[in-house]
Amino acid sequence: MRLVLLGPPGAGKGTQAVHIARAFQMPRIATGDLFREHATQETDLGREAKAYMDRGELVPDDLVLRMVSERLRRADASDGFLFDGFPRTVAQAIALEDHLADAGTPLDVVVRFNIPESEIVRRIVNRRTCPTDGSVYHLDFAPPEHDDVCDLCGTPLVHRADDTEAVVRRRLEEYHAKTERLEYFYWERGLLRDVESVGPVEEVTRRTLAVLDDIADGDAA
Ligand code: AP5
Repeated sequence: MRLVLLGPPGAGKGTQAVHIARAFQMPRIATGDLFREHATQETDLGREAKAYMDRGELVPDDLVLRMVSERLRRADASDGFLFDGFPRTVAQAIALEDHLADAGTPLDVVVRFNIPESEIVRRIVNRRTCPTDGSVYHLDFAPPEHDDVCDLCGTPLVHRADDTEAVVRRRLEEYHAKTERLEYFYWERGLLRDVESVGPVEEVTRRTLAVLDDIADGDAA
């Protein structure tokens, strides 16, 4: 299956991506995580992207597309993938559509996670993430079993530099200005499915897997 997760910052894309990728045995391609890896390794791309990310602005399309097209060439993406955080602009969506059309492997579904804006800041400022396996925690809603280390791999958790209230508000502005229009882009193509992202994580996972099982069974109408 080839799928895209769409939704504003804090909607639960990263949290659900880990569960979906495991359930469907597919690689999770999270452009935010890829940029953060580049930033940690201090590559040129990482340095350039970090300046935008720290301000809560989208990284320019050409940098994103270069990185994604390299990632899609890896063998593990040949039978399917899950995109978390990509595409974020119409230009990125068109580039992805063209790439997949050339390969004869179109997208199967775009899942949009819906969350009231009032929840977003609360979710983001107390988030902790695992830089090794992408696991996502929340100090109140989904705390790790042991303080500040990942339950799965024991890596110390990090507080992302862009997880402050001011930067989240900027990220939300970017979402409304540039990413929200993808909802119509994919709705027009009959690919958009909605999942309510409020409620316990396991409940949101259950709703998401139900949608994806329908798609996998060819029963998406
Ligand atoms: P990115 O890393 O993609 O961040 P984002 O899209 O802003 O999304 P988040 O990771 O903040 O939220 P999420 O929806 O994954 O929520 P999560 O599951 O963590 O991008 C960062 C930056 O990179 C961008 O600003 C941009 O600069 C750049 N970038 C990346 N991709 C780009 C692209 N394609 N083009 C241009 N620039 C790009 O959950 C949030 C919190 O809520 C967690 O603490 C979690 O534990 C908690 N939570 C989750 N679900 C629930 C629930 N059901 N109940 C209670 N709490 C919950």
